[in-house]
Amino acid sequence: MLAYCRRMAKKNPLIRPLVHDLHAYVPGEQPKIKGLIKLNTNENPYPPSPKVLAAVKAAVDGRLRLYPNPTAETLRAKLAKLHGCQPENLIIGNGSDELLALAVRCFVEPSPKSKILSPRTVVQYFTPSYSLYPVLADTHGAAKNAVPLKDDFSVPGVAELRRGKQWRFDAALTLVTTPNAPSGRGYQTVELEKLCRAQQGVVVLDEAYVDFAKENALKLALKCPHVLVARTFSKAYSLCFQRVGYLVGHSELIAALDKIRDSYNVNGLGQIAAEATLDDLKFYHANFQKIIATRERLARELTKLGFRVLPSQTNFILAKPPLFPASAWLEKLRARKILVRWFGTPAVKDFLRITIGTPAEAAALVKAVRAVLFR
Ligand SMILES: Cc1ncc(COP(=O)(O)O)c(C=O)c1O
Repeated sequence: MLAYCRRMAKKNPLIRPLVHDLHAYVPGEQPKIKGLIKLNTNENPYPPSPKVLAAVKAAVDGRLRLYPNPTAETLRAKLAKLHGCQPENLIIGNGSDELLALAVRCFVEPSPKSKILSPRTVVQYFTPSYSLYPVLADTHGAAKNAVPLKDDFSVPGVAELRRGKQWRFDAALTLVTTPNAPSGRGYQTVELEKLCRAQQGVVVLDEAYVDFAKENALKLALKCPHVLVARTFSKAYSLCFQRVGYLVGHSELIAALDKIRDSYNVNGLGQIAAEATLDDLKFYHANFQKIIATRERLARELTKLGFRVLPSQTNFILAKPPLFPASAWLEKLRARKILVRWFGTPAVKDFLRITIGTPAEAAALVKAVRAVLFR
């Protein structure tokens, strides 16, 4: 056994050193424990609309033997109509994660030893933000430039970034999570526009949570030829299981991304589910309002119990709990069958990230918090 472990610790020459040394992305836990309230992965607490479920069920027949439409043509046409652009301004992915990975492969040169040798090799992002970005850069052998947000998780202004000297206005690719995750902070389009206009490389505005926010920056993708906006059906549209996301942007960037994607990257049932979603947007707009109302109520109740809850424009909140370290709260809540998320990174290690569930789930969380505090 010991010999086996030693062999495994040595680098297997069949595997590229870059892959051997890679720290893979760690997704939130998907536990099978019965009765657990799952507030850890920012899924939507409400199921897809009955019309979406009916459309998917109706498509489960002999068609499963056929390849799906390779360019998700109908879905792109519907999205183009919704966003006031052309289908050529849209590419659909197997979740927006796939499109973020494609953007790294499409716009960034790998770099020997992942060092910043030229701006063309740089993937740039703020910290904290979506923890997938560094993994995508490492997988590609690109150089990373991780620049801290301000203490209140706001984006530093352009003049401030220039003074700080670490930010690269020439980075090949800049990824901005807006609204931010894991803080939940929303950003104004005017400030994002100033940042975008100062960048020479491609900027992806990752709007995974934007349906819960006050504004979105889609118009920047339609007026700046180097800006792409990433959206997903996972969070606001209750379709994590189906894996559908998209990018909006200039047709030249979209065509370049299209060249390097897998031919059938979006599965057929996913396309059907997303199309039916767009035919029933009213249903989802009502869900956004319910989730936002629960978010605000939960924030008030946790604040009364001594939590420092940061303002959120997403379907989760970042909250600093009282009395015990956040990591201890994670265990205490889990013992009471409530699963939330804790990140051990310096900027957020004192906080819990809590997905907004149904009103009943929020009430159960408050009850569990009271039990921890007053037992
Ligand atoms: C900021 C951000 N972007 C993108 C994604 C990926 O979403 P998708 O399910 O579309 O791959 C997530 C998922 O957690 C996210 O938090």
